[in-house]
Amino acid sequence: MRLAVNIDHFATLREARKSAEPEPVLAALIAEQAGAEGIVCHLRRDRRHIKERDLLLLREAVKTKLNLEMAATAEMQKIALKVKPDVVSLVPERPEELTTEGGLNVAADRVHLGPFVRRLQKAGIRVSIFIDPDIGQIRTAGELGVDLIEINTGKYADLKPGIARDEALAQVMEAAEFGLGLGLEVHAGHGLNYHNVLPIVAIPQISELSIGFSIVARAAIGGLDNAVREMRALLEKR
Ligand code: PXP
Repeated sequence: MRLAVNIDHFATLREARKSAEPEPVLAALIAEQAGAEGIVCHLRRDRRHIKERDLLLLREAVKTKLNLEMAATAEMQKIALKVKPDVVSLVPERPEELTTEGGLNVAADRVHLGPFVRRLQKAGIRVSIFIDPDIGQIRTAGELGVDLIEINTGKYADLKPGIARDEALAQVMEAAEFGLGLGLEVHAGHGLNYHNVLPIVAIPQISELSIGFSIVARAAIGGLDNAVREMRALLEKR
């Protein structure tokens, strides 16, 4: 199981102060050094966290695999064709959402998505679609000729352990089996954390997880002790 680390929220923290730090590119390099097999960032239309400058630098710096999450718009396609990430993950995007809220409705948007996907693939970019664990949607994604799918684990992740969560997990398992059966590479992500990731890790058809928020949150708390000690040491210099 490969781990792709989403670094968006290092940029969220930077933008909270419109500052130069924390530097998301540095976060990407540290994540790679610690064993991440891929780096993910989402360039949103409103540029609320990742900017084009970040994307260009990440393209230069990332040694593993750069996955650009984006909406299927003409603006984003142009940027992707210029920057050439290794993978483009197509996601739905609503301006007022806090985070991506669900998978892309490929069935409703197939006329637009078909040529959109092919144009990216012609440029050598592998295309992924973020998709709910819904067999019909996954079948349509397969018909569109995408290279891989990322199954949305958001519903599973939002539930507490119990019957409803077991059902959501079973949907992810079924979706993974169906996707792999179509010849697609199967990834998963959204809302995964240190408490809920293991049942997803156990699904043999899933080869990669995309995880962001919980890792950034743990890094902030885990790094706090040292950060305070370093500042205290400077205050001792008087
Ligand atoms: N996959 C997709 C398509 C996403 O949009 C996100 C959130 O940016 C993630 C995975 C990672 O989710 P989280 O930050 O909850 O780990």
